[in-house]
Amino acid sequence: MKLLILGANGQLGQALLQQLKQPRQLQQQFQCLALNRSQLDITDISAVTTVMAQYRPDAVINCAAYTAVDPAEQQAATCIAVNGTAVGQLAKLCQQYNSLLLQFSTDYVFNGQSSAYTEQDTAAPLNVYGQSKLQAEQAIHATCSKYVILRTSWLFSEFGHNFYRTMLKLAQRGQIIQVVNDQFGCPTYAGDLAAAIVQLLQRYQQQGSLAYGIYHFAGNPAVSWYQFAQAIFAAHQLKVNLQAIGSANWPTLAVRPANSILDCNKFCDTFAIAIPQWQAVLQQLASGDCNDITA
Ligand SMILES: NC(=O)c1ccc[n+]([C@@H]2O[C@H](COP(=O)([O-])OP(=O)(O)OC[C@H]3O[C@@H](n4cnc5c(N)ncnc54)[C@H](OP(=O)(O)O)[C@@H]3O)[C@@H](O)[C@H]2O)c1
Repeated sequence: MKLLILGANGQLGQALLQQLKQPRQLQQQFQCLALNRSQLDITDISAVTTVMAQYRPDAVINCAAYTAVDPAEQQAATCIAVNGTAVGQLAKLCQQYNSLLLQFSTDYVFNGQSSAYTEQDTAAPLNVYGQSKLQAEQAIHATCSKYVILRTSWLFSEFGHNFYRTMLKLAQRGQIIQVVNDQFGCPTYAGDLAAAIVQLLQRYQQQGSLAYGIYHFAGNPAVSWYQFAQAIFAAHQLKVNLQAIGSANWPTLAVRPANSILDCNKFCDTFAIAIPQWQAVLQQLASGDCNDITA
């Protein structure tokens, strides 16, 4: 089965490539064309069209995204071009070439005023990033018949820019670390999401189809950012001066939902894949080489 992986240098892209490289069986099962931004800018529609026409992928896994939530408020056009418009075009091409589209969306499509969000709940993004990701969801739904959108949240990994790596870097500086304690969500290890993607692809290959649609996929348990930071430092046995603060004391350009906990039961029931437990992953990461992680 031919896979086209876009945004291959992001944390999810790298986590996915790591999964696909590991067992020899997977290498034989999947032929991968993995392209980073410099190799294929997804806003360059004619370049994307050429790749789709020449490679004819069975599945496109779109890990490319504009993920800088605060800068997006001042660069709305760029954010919407990458996350919204380009994904809409990609969906049309997937439809044209009969390719499965795997797309990733966010808990930030919700306004944070509910409890755990299901796929039935109404999206009402508070910021430009959330709006751009919702635009993509709607474009895919309107255009493409073979798609799975996984809404995920608080992605962390040993790759790229994420809260986990930021906390470890801040700990090395020995300063007071202030983290908000009134925004709740579900940390999700990118490796767990990548493993779920591989299982979906295997199922698609075996069955020739999937239960298409939109799903929530996030780690368990839900916590505040402050509690997440506490868990990171505890796993790494780091003594830091960590202070809980309210969002009101940490002004940001983008408004964030107070509660973006994702209910993942639909995904688990449909695909018989368990919700990942992120705390166990922290222990595993901590037992690896910390210098590599924070390098
Ligand atoms: N990170 C989170 O906490 C989080 C939470 C919820 C949902 N998600 C979603 O999960 C998915 C994966 O996120 P991630 O954390 O892996 O993001 P990431 O680490 O920021 O990776 C995104 C990748 O997309 C690339 N990219 C940006 N613009 C591009 C363009 N025009 N053409 C091609 N590539 C482009 C970036 O390239 P450069 O490396 O050159 O910048 C980067 O490598 C995204 O859809 C994101 O919206 C993420």
